[in-house]
Amino acid sequence: MTTQTKILGTGICLPEKVMTNFDLEKVVDTNDEWIYERTGIKARRICSTEGGEWPTDLAEKAAWRALEAAALTPDDIDMIIFASVTPDVKLPNSASILQQKLKITNQCAAMDIAVACSGFVYGANMADSFIKTGMAKKVLVVGSEMLSREIDWSDRTICILFGDGCGCAIFGAAEEGETSEVLATHLGTDGSGAEFFDQPIGGAVTPLTAEHIAAGEHFMRMKGREMFKVATRTLAENARIVLKKAGLSLEDVDWVVPHQANIRIIETTARLIGVPMEKVIVNIENYGNTSAATVPIAFHEAVMDGRIKRGDIVLFDAFGAGLTFGATLLRY
Ligand code: UT7
Repeated sequence: MTTQTKILGTGICLPEKVMTNFDLEKVVDTNDEWIYERTGIKARRICSTEGGEWPTDLAEKAAWRALEAAALTPDDIDMIIFASVTPDVKLPNSASILQQKLKITNQCAAMDIAVACSGFVYGANMADSFIKTGMAKKVLVVGSEMLSREIDWSDRTICILFGDGCGCAIFGAAEEGETSEVLATHLGTDGSGAEFFDQPIGGAVTPLTAEHIAAGEHFMRMKGREMFKVATRTLAENARIVLKKAGLSLEDVDWVVPHQANIRIIETTARLIGVPMEKVIVNIENYGNTSAATVPIAFHEAVMDGRIKRGDIVLFDAFGAGLTFGATLLRY
């Protein structure tokens, strides 16, 4: 029998602090109306800088929820894939820190992936491969970000978009007779668009200096309009590719869980692929863009409130800096 990959449990954790558009009006020259009309965002969560809400703290809490939902203990996990572009520290990797926080003693593989907003989808598709090849049995895939640390709060074109948060899922093999399975996966990258969203200061090429910080050059930089155009095209193409691979049509899809970057990107993509917005999970209003965490947070919320049910066909669809992109088509 070929192995079918199933999502065994999910969890999320969001920082306590809510920052509304009205709060942002006091920080930069912007207003609630502009932000909501152009992005669909009303509020975002912001991690405490006092501690207790670092990306691996959020991940620990989210993982405990996923473990409970899956009726598993930490030592059942035999691989951790941690997707983030805002890790707690440069070394060690966040997955190792999380393994320690969860008190996993089985010395399971623990790796980070830095593919920005596509991170959870990359992790999900990798988990599917590891499970299907027998290299792992229970893979914890995490998307956790503290973007509030890496954005320029004086730049209104970028700071209004992002927020902090974490979502995760545990992937494992379905039992015999179960219908849950990953039906098709797709991953890709177009490095020619690297300059549309980057953070060149602070790496090996240009180590961070006091001058960079004083000049505010160390933050993430984004070409919003270029990202917007690529995003809609890429998300639509991702969907077509996985549907074709699975031999399914759009009518078969019950729910689309897209990366939450901008409501206009989501609506344009839905129009391009021909899916009514009633089938699209959207929560950008509450959290903004949490990068690798948007898809698992949106998926978890829709499972919890009963919209997404076991047996439903679900499409995860994401793109991000790199430019990375990917999709997962699954029967939940
Ligand atoms: O996860 C993936 C990464 N990011 C994305 O996918 C983002 C994709 N891009 C976007 O979501 C949109 O391009 C933005 C929301 C970033 C910008 O929306 P836009 O409709 O492309 O606006 P724009 O950049 O064309 O700016 C329109 C106007 C400009 O004024 P002028 O030149 O027309 O007078 C901006 O200066 O809006 C102004 N503006 C603002 N006004 C109030 C830009 N930001 C703001 C702001 N508040 N926060």
